[in-house]
Amino acid sequence: MKKILETAQLAARLAAAEILSHWDNLKIDYKAINDLVTQADVASERLIQQTILDAFPTHQFYAEESADRAALESEQLWIIDPLDGTTNFAGGIPHFSISIAYAERGEVKVGVVYDVAKGEMFHAVAGEGALLNDSRIGISFASEIHQCIVSTGFAYERGPLMRATLKSIERLFNNNLRGIRRFGSAALDLCWVACGRFEGFFEYSLNPWDFAAGALILTEAGGKICTHNGELYNLNANGIIVATPGIFEQLKDLTRFSG
Ligand code: IPD
Ligand code: CA
Ligand code: CA
Repeated sequence: MKKILETAQLAARLAAAEILSHWDNLKIDYKAINDLVTQADVASERLIQQTILDAFPTHQFYAEESADRAALESEQLWIIDPLDGTTNFAGGIPHFSISIAYAERGEVKVGVVYDVAKGEMFHAVAGEGALLNDSRIGISFASEIHQCIVSTGFAYERGPLMRATLKSIERLFNNNLRGIRRFGSAALDLCWVACGRFEGFFEYSLNPWDFAAGALILTEAGGKICTHNGELYNLNANGIIVATPGIFEQLKDLTRFSG
């Protein structure tokens, strides 16, 4: 997996420079009235794919901005979010990332999430633990909900998913949660649980490119994950609940999606 990891990290660094070159001269399009895409997203994805193809010409891609997507169970598949946190990026808020996962037959083997503005490179190789830059990371040891900060994300949809998210937040506060955060990059939310900055994260509407890399980093750091319905985690999940083991069952009960 050494060459895979090196290629993923090289692609992330090249894409980060590309993204930053668009920072002062943003061209924004709209996927929906509240869902943006910029030229930086598209240019970043192109550069990542080219960097990977130079090293692995036969590998396939499942990437956010591409029209054709290989099946998630492909032999050798790269799952890519070229810019996670586009709303932040477009607003000049320095919290966004690049997420690159490599999977074989639906099993993620390598995950890289690069926080572009902070220069924080998270990565994991299956079975080898998780690192932030060159240091090993681990989850928080909190075991009581009142000791915990939980992060969430709001779906672009403003109906049942949004109402369910707000209800879960209310339930958490009624159980004396210390704090809620919404920072705007799901890939980083997972990494921040992995390194103990948050105790948990839940979001009800996500895509594989948002969580494939971060989920491996989280589990390699000792964190737990299930689908937003409380079922076994898999790459086809529409949403996820993650937490440090000490509060996982409680967080699952308080935030499980039942819409
Ligand atoms: C979004 C971010 C955000 C999450 C949204 C995602 P994008 O990704 O991860 O935190 O709440 O659900 O779609 O659109 O910036 O790549
Ligand atoms: Ca995303
Ligand atoms: Ca994106």
